[in-house]
This record gives sequence, structure tokens and C-alpha cells, in this order.
Amino acid sequence: MYVGVDYYPEHWPKEMMEEDILGIKKLHSNIVRIGEFAWHLMEPTEGNFDFSFFDEVIEKVKEQDLYVMFGTPTATFPAWLAKQYPSILSVDEDGATRNFGGRRQYCYNSPVYREYSAKITEKLVQHYQKEDAIIAWQIDNELGHEGSDMCYCKQCHKEFHLFLENKYQHIDALNETYGTIFWGQTYNSFDEIPMPTKTITTHNPTLKLDWARFRSFSLNRFAQEQTAIVRKNRGAHQQITTNIAGGFFSKWFDHEETVKGMDFVSYDNYPVWGGLTEPIPPAEIAMTHDFNRGLLDKNFWIVEELMGAQGHDIIGYLPRPNQAKMWSYQAFAHGCTDMLYFRWRGMTKGAEQYCYGVVGHDNHYGRRYKEVQNVFSDIQNYEDVLQTEIKSDIAVLYDYDNIWSWNFQQQSSGFDFKQELMRLYTPFYKLNTHIDVIPVSRDFSSYKVLLVPALQIIDEALAERFRSFTEQGGTVIFTFRTGIKDKQNNIYLKQTLPGYVKDITGIEIHEIEALSSSQTVPIIGAGEFQGTSSTCSIWRDVITPVTAETLFTYDDPFYAEAAVTKNNFGKGLVYYVGGGIEEDVLLEIAKRIVKEQDVAHVESEEGLEVYSRFIDNEVYYFFMNHTAETKTFESLTLQPYESKIVKK
Ligand code: GLA
Ligand code: ZN
Repeated sequence: MYVGVDYYPEHWPKEMMEEDILGIKKLHSNIVRIGEFAWHLMEPTEGNFDFSFFDEVIEKVKEQDLYVMFGTPTATFPAWLAKQYPSILSVDEDGATRNFGGRRQYCYNSPVYREYSAKITEKLVQHYQKEDAIIAWQIDNELGHEGSDMCYCKQCHKEFHLFLENKYQHIDALNETYGTIFWGQTYNSFDEIPMPTKTITTHNPTLKLDWARFRSFSLNRFAQEQTAIVRKNRGAHQQITTNIAGGFFSKWFDHEETVKGMDFVSYDNYPVWGGLTEPIPPAEIAMTHDFNRGLLDKNFWIVEELMGAQGHDIIGYLPRPNQAKMWSYQAFAHGCTDMLYFRWRGMTKGAEQYCYGVVGHDNHYGRRYKEVQNVFSDIQNYEDVLQTEIKSDIAVLYDYDNIWSWNFQQQSSGFDFKQELMRLYTPFYKLNTHIDVIPVSRDFSSYKVLLVPALQIIDEALAERFRSFTEQGGTVIFTFRTGIKDKQNNIYLKQTLPGYVKDITGIEIHEIEALSSSQTVPIIGAGEFQGTSSTCSIWRDVITPVTAETLFTYDDPFYAEAAVTKNNFGKGLVYYVGGGIEEDVLLEIAKRIVKEQDVAHVESEEGLEVYSRFIDNEVYYFFMNHTAETKTFESLTLQPYESKIVKK
């Protein structure tokens, strides 16, 4: 098990190195991550590779028996490269070049950038392939983050044409798929096709989806090139990873593709960042871990765990005492096996002066230092528990094509895919169940429950998978706008909604209405929910039950049809939630489902997360009190933001 900090020795006078490394060691650490932004230090002028600084750093950390994760430095190219080849710089939607000065402002389709990145990475990994202390390589840093997944430069435009030609072979096929007859947009050749930059009204939906697929292709081609270079030149003892940033559902690349061929996934866990005045909800933090565990279907690392307040030009919330520790335990509970805190000491110069580290700018070893020391000394006692596989009865399914379709065409001004995923995830999180968050393409036949948020794009083959899952006794929850589109982002012709899943849902939908986030429609319970009421926002599908039972209807003089339905199909159950239904209703449905399906769950007070891990017929409870109040569980009392592991 590795625990440590992100350490930037190049940021400090050399005479501080020994003291820093000793201070890191005394955290009960055994690893540091270095190098991910140090391209110029390693190639100060073109072709002049110099690793002497990091040779010295590695010798020093080895004196303290510390290991190393080394970051390939392609996220921050040297100024001489941009000066010599400005074509490496990416371009925003308005055609403005992103200037040197930030980071990751390169174009993934720049042949020059790919060539020079290949060179520095090859030289670096070759130089250290025999270095026993280096146990892992991190590819780049947060690929595609901070808007860098989008570029509208000429190279991208040209590559986009090639991408489309390769996909459609003939322009007639593209015209037919796009429906370019509409608004007279028929193309005679691929090089007439625009990037979907600003226009009057909006672009063709299939063009927009293909553009998103092209963005994903561009970034992942770079990631895979870099992975291949590291794989070819690394030592057999050195593993490969990359660090995934938060906000992964608003990015323009398929993350499962990005990490293909890597040994493990790393995640940067920032429950609060920048100007946020309070952390993101505990359920959402939990979901991010389940998402990262799902990418390679295995436990993962955290290579940037928040300890101090973080931000670039705006900072915000200060984690309360033990709150950052509690977030660490939550990550470990959900499958993190190894952890590094960002960062050893806050930097005094440069863009991240306000990213506070484990140690202050004043070099004071205070609360944050002691909190990390406390985590590391305790968690290493549970290494075997952390290594166990997490088995879930429940899976949340996502599909990037579907997410990109929504990101380009919101339909409701209040729609946000992550919000709709959390609408289904949160109730089951509150019941302390295990939940996998996986791509819809993954085999889901072994689960008991599938949560399927706003999945517009369902073709016959996928519908067949849902049908057989339900026939075997599985429970599915679909939500609004399910099944309306084919894989080319076009609405089905002559298909009554919800399209290919009409029969398993046992309903028909002939009317729909987009609601803003402030607009609500009251709903009233029917059948087993008789006498209850709630509200619906964001959207409503006006449902006509065919074989399904009505659980809620809209309390509306004009469209009083069903809002939520349940259908018996085969040996299973299919729920259809026809709008942005409030959590109170979904929690009741979740409680019924976990009982019907015998899903392992634990009842706890609101705000107290209890996550079970199993090893050798023993159960370990990870307790996380996400609140400023004292919480109890059986005979256990947890103080505000307290976390602990208890063998049951
Ligand atoms: C991200 C990056 C780091 C640093 C931190 C600041 O996760 O990976 O390089 O910018 O945020 O919080
Ligand atoms: Zn570009």
C-alpha cells in the first residue's frame, strides 16, 4: 500500500529538500508523486534532455525509503516549443488561440505536439526504466480538464473531415444520416462540413454528436499513444496510470477509452474547490469514486486528495477539522487502495499560490499535517480490507454518446445529466448500498437493479439486453426521455415512445413537456402510493399506462395522466419515472426495491454514511459522518466529521 504526497522539489530552494523529504517521511508516507509539470526542466532547449535534477531528487527520497510515481510532463510544454511551433496551441470556439501561460493549452491533433510529446516521454521513461524507486508512471495530468478537451483549430477541422470520411465512406451516407436535406444543408464533399462553432440558431444534432465523438477520438488517440510509449519503455516493475479529474460527465471524451491499457485508474478527489462555499453533496463524492472504480472495473488510487482549501484566483470553503480525513476514508471505503495528498506545501509563486497544502507556506506543521499523519498511521492497518473487491447489486448505467447528445441539446433549460444520474443514485446511496457506475456497454446481466438515467439512445440490441435482464428477474428504473433516439442522435420514425423499451415498460408516451428548474408540477400517489404527493420539475413525460401500474399521476387539469409507473415483465420489474421527481418519492421506491430484490443495505441517520467491506467472512464498516452534528449508529457515536473503520 502506498500513501504519500504530491511533491514539487523544483518549486523550493534545494537546501529545503532534505528537510521536506524527512517531513514527508514522518507523515508515515512511503511515496511521492513528482515531475508532471517539469518538461522545461528536463528539456530546457530542444533535444537537450537533462534529468540530473530528478536523479538527485530520487536519490534523496530513496534515502528515506520513499517510492516514486513520476508524471510524464506533457500537460505543460516549454515556451520554446510554442514559440517555434505556434500550431501546437489550441483554439477556442471563437477562433482565438489559447496563449501560452496556463496549462494544457495544446491541440491533441497537432502532429508537432504529438511528436515532441512522444520524444520527451520516451527519453524520460527510458532514462528511469531501471529505477527501482519509480513504481508508477502517470500519463500527462488530468487529460482534457479545464476546457482542454475542445479545440477548433485548422488541424482539428482537417482531422474532423478525415474522421467523418473514414466513418461514412461516402458523402451521400453522411447526408442521409444527418438529414441534411433539412434547411438545404446537403454536402457535396466532406471538406464542406463545418465544425459546430457559432451560427444562427443551432447545428445539426448528428453533426454535433459526431463532433463530440471526434473530440473523444482525438484526446484518446493522444492518451493511447502516450500509454504505448510508456508501456514500451518502462521497467516491468513500473505500472501505468493517469489521473482523472472531476466533472467527468461534462467532458468531451469517453473516459473508459482513455484508461484502456493502463494498469490502474487514479482520481483527483476535490470535494470542494475554487469559490465553492460548501462541499459537493456526500452522495456525489461517493458517486465519483464508484465511477472511477468502474472504469477498469477494479479498485483505484487517489493521487490528489484535498487537505487544504484550493483554488486558482478564487478560493472558498475551508475543510473543518477531520473533514478532509473523513473524505479520505470515504474514498478508501469506495475502493481507493493507495492515496497521495495534494500537495506537500502550498507554492508561494505561480498560478497556484492559493492551493494550500499539507504544510503551510510558512512551513508550519499544523492541523493539516497531523490530520494526514493520523490517516496514514491508521489506514495502513486495513490494507488487506482495502484490497478486497467491491461487489454491487446495483449499477447506474451511462453512455457518453447519450451524455453528449444532452450536453448539446438540453431540451429543458434545467437539464443536467449528472443531476439526473444523482436523482437515481442518491436514494440508494442513502440506504448505504454498494453501487457500480458503469458504461451501458458493460455486461450488466449479473446485477439485481439497474438505474438508467435519461438514456435517450437505445437501439434494438440494447433494448434486447434490458428485456432479457428483466425477464430473468431484474429490476430496472428508467427515467424521462428514455429510448427516443437512435445511435445517430435522430428521433425514431413511427416508434411510439419509449421506443424499443415500450413493451418492457408497459407504457406509451404521446405528450411531453420541458419544465425549467424553477417550474414544478404537483404529482399525487395512486395504488400503493395512494395519499402521498410530491412534485416534478425539469421535465414531464405524460404517460399512458398499457400494462403498467400507475404509482403517481400529474395533479393537472389538462394532463392528469401517469407520472410514475411500474410494470411486471417476465420475472422482473420495470419502473418508469416520467420526470424530475423529488427524492422523497424515489427514496420510497428505493426502499421497496432493496427489500424486493434482497439488496444488501444498512439503515443509518441522514448524513452518516456506512459502507461495508467484506474479507474472510468478516465485515468492516467504514463510518463517515458528513455533518457538523454528532451521529449515532447502534452503540457507536461519531463526532462532527468523524470517520472510522469498525470490524463488525
Ligand atoms: C488539479 C491538478 C493539480 C492542481 C490541483 C489544484 O487536480 O491536477 O495540478 O492544479 O488541481 O487543486
Ligand atoms: Zn486543434
